[in-house]
Amino acid sequence: MADKYAVIGNPIVHSKSPLIHAKFARRTRHAMTYEHILGNPDDFAGDAHRFFAAGGRGMNVTLPFKEQAWGMVDERGPEAERGKAVNTLTLLPDGRLRGDNTDGIGLVRDLSGNHGFDFGGKRVLLLGAGGASRGVLFPLLEAGPAALVIANRTVSRALDLAAAAAADQVSGCGLEGLSGPGFDLIINATSAGFDGGVPAIPRDCLAVGGWAYDMFYGDTPTPFLRWGRERGAARALDGLGMLVEQAAESFFLWRGVRPSTASVIARLRGG
Ligand code: ATR
Repeated sequence: MADKYAVIGNPIVHSKSPLIHAKFARRTRHAMTYEHILGNPDDFAGDAHRFFAAGGRGMNVTLPFKEQAWGMVDERGPEAERGKAVNTLTLLPDGRLRGDNTDGIGLVRDLSGNHGFDFGGKRVLLLGAGGASRGVLFPLLEAGPAALVIANRTVSRALDLAAAAAADQVSGCGLEGLSGPGFDLIINATSAGFDGGVPAIPRDCLAVGGWAYDMFYGDTPTPFLRWGRERGAARALDGLGMLVEQAAESFFLWRGVRPSTASVIARLRGG
């Protein structure tokens, strides 16, 4: 019988994860199903436990449940532990539930593996200090930038997150307070997305030859990517590659095989 997997979130209907995992399963010849589940905001843990009680083997968790997932698991991988968010649940052979977070690995792998960004010695700006930023902060730091600045509309949240990183190269500030030499990479991890526009950062934040990366993606360029292009970004990348890479890492945790991602990303882009 095919092994059972799912993604849970709210909203969930537009999730590309079922399509991505179906492609991975086909290419690796793994017999598995992967459905999407609309989670109940008042009973996330109940929904997750019911899925596993009904034979589920693993589950991806998306907004707004990543923090709740962190709270319900029996053991956590290091990225999940530090980021206080879980995007991958795995039923262990002894019946306990494990939580991992593959978002940060997905982001770094997309930037450095797929696009050849070399973090060494670079100045990186992370916009936002919510769950999305927290989830990727430590893998970003491990990638080895010279400086990682967290800038947020609410300054105190940026300062708190920077303090939690407890690393010399990390600092926090407000959006308008950004100054000094431009950044080689600016990552948008705010939830401003399509509706909220572009976080209010100074025009000259981007270094000459700098890159803009939006953890959001859509069928058309996001406001942040348009901002980057208008300011001459050498590359303006959306988060579709990160989505596929984090899915590949989840697949690896569950199945012990790392599926190739390039053709899946190309297919999702309509290539
Ligand atoms: P998530 O867990 O998805 O990150 P969150 O915890 O609500 O959600 O955080 C959303 C992030 O986007 C925050 O950093 C938020 O800034 P505040 O902490 O000041 O609220 C940021 N954000 C949302 N809309 C924004 C906007 N229009 N401009 C700038 N930042 C925005």
